[in-house]
Amino acid sequence: MNKQTNAGILGTGWYVPEGRVTNFDLENMVDTSDAWIRTRTGICERRKAAADQPVSDLALRAARMALEDANMAAEAVDLIIVATLTGDQIIPSTACRLQDALGAKHAAAFDLSAACSGFVYASATACQFIETGVYRHVLVIGAETLSKVIDWTDRNTCVLFGDGAGAALYGPVEDGLGVLAFDLGSDGAGGDALAIPAGGSLHPMTEQRLHAGDQFVHMDGKAVFRFAVRILGETVEKSLGRCGMTKEEIDHLVPHQANIRILEAAEKRLRLPREKVVVNIERYGNMSAASIPVALSEAAHAHRFRKGDTIALAGFGAGLTWASCIMKWAKEDIL
Ligand code: UT7
Repeated sequence: MNKQTNAGILGTGWYVPEGRVTNFDLENMVDTSDAWIRTRTGICERRKAAADQPVSDLALRAARMALEDANMAAEAVDLIIVATLTGDQIIPSTACRLQDALGAKHAAAFDLSAACSGFVYASATACQFIETGVYRHVLVIGAETLSKVIDWTDRNTCVLFGDGAGAALYGPVEDGLGVLAFDLGSDGAGGDALAIPAGGSLHPMTEQRLHAGDQFVHMDGKAVFRFAVRILGETVEKSLGRCGMTKEEIDHLVPHQANIRILEAAEKRLRLPREKVVVNIERYGNMSAASIPVALSEAAHAHRFRKGDTIALAGFGAGLTWASCIMKWAKEDIL
């Protein structure tokens, strides 16, 4: 590809709803315990959107913060990509609703479906438009209201997930900075391991399906766990290889936050000390496409990154999908 410019992050933002569900709250709802949830997953609490709060509202707040952080007007955005599995409606896309709410008059907009890998898939897509000179500024958002698609009586899933949104504005950056390499992958044969069975054209919603709870997330936790432990390290190693870098050169890993034990396995494989891994699972649980951008933005605004630091993003999830990228942080840290 004829690369005209490097693409990197110019600003980030995040938003989580005010409603909190603690492990102790869950003890009163299903047969579980704070001790089980903390030791098996690392989660202490998660956020829950209000009943009348659609995912676009979370996305809008994160997007506004990212634009402000980049000192950029909404009119300067050329493209909006929203990675989500909990869009406001089937149509129109959440990205189109966001385009209107933001006043991003000149932006094209679409949603991207890659579940928990969605933010990295969308980031890789954004970079293609920028690197080829087609667009200058692409707003990428990972946003979820998983609380609306989980069965709050199913202890296998309801303890794991949370709501939130994270955003990054991508644009042209100096030579040697920004996104250096990425790895995207899929294995559709594993699709049943993590799915919302009904509500699409395969199984349109019927009373029977509704009664069976097929509108909710169903997960074979063990199968996804085994896949995640293998793929997280593997995809980061692939991305590193593509830009000629080694594990030792990673300054920060921002992984999908599904289970602390999955992160510990990745730390071991990539020989990364905990200080280099951005972890917020204890406060937010698994926010699917929002996990990585919320962690990234929180860390950036906490001044964890210096210009030129090497950052690896890595996600995995339903599809099955996985995705990673290596970037050199392009933003000056202003204290
Ligand atoms: O973002 C998408 C990617 N998603 C993931 O990466 C999730 C990957 N999977 C996981 O994180 C883990 O598999 C879980 C956290 C979902 C489950 O942990 P586990 O260590 O694999 O537990 P398990 O499913 O083997 O269950 C162990 C026991 C079972 O009881 P028995 O059969 O041994 O009597 C479960 O019924 O724990 C029981 N259990 C619970 N107990 C209390 C399952 N969920 C709960 C619960 N509270 N919430």
